[in-house]
Amino acid sequence: MKRIIPVVVVNEINDTVKILEALIKDGINCAEITFRTECAEKAVALAVKEFPDMEIGAGTVINAEQCRRALDAGAQFIVSPGLSEEVAVVCAQSNTPYYPGCVTPTEIIKALSLGITTVKFFPANVYGGLNALQALSAPFPQVKFIPTGGVDDGNLREYLSWDKIFAVGGSYFTDRAVKKWTE
Ligand code: 3PG
Repeated sequence: MKRIIPVVVVNEINDTVKILEALIKDGINCAEITFRTECAEKAVALAVKEFPDMEIGAGTVINAEQCRRALDAGAQFIVSPGLSEEVAVVCAQSNTPYYPGCVTPTEIIKALSLGITTVKFFPANVYGGLNALQALSAPFPQVKFIPTGGVDDGNLREYLSWDKIFAVGGSYFTDRAVKKWTE
């Protein structure tokens, strides 16, 4: 089954439970908590403790230090907007899946050389969406993609219908769930 990876931005640590409960009510059991707010690390730790049945990852992880903090907090997967070799090394050491952002053939070749075959494609709407992914896939049939950026109801179904999609990511899923269940 194809997966949904909601991008979660926690501005206030007290919002963590409310956001994740809304996602669960929407049938989503995964969350990428982004390391772009002060409380991200605490939010990951809280989410891992309070929601043991969810797959909790850390996103916007751009260096080894952040990656170590995310893993110490219990993150089960790591996502970056681009490809960071140092993050890849830390993840490999702890056997944690790492999904780096790759939008060019050169970046995909780099990911493959690091042993990574599933990459984030970000920002998917700007870099050509599904058309671009299908063109990139020709030379890289072994690669699976996580399109993220501008994903919404208008393009979700077409992404999900293609077999090279590992998962679809975005803040859309979080916003939708929070709006539906908490407002
Ligand atoms: C990310 O970090 O992956 C992006 O901020 C998600 O982009 P979106 O808000 O357009 O889904």
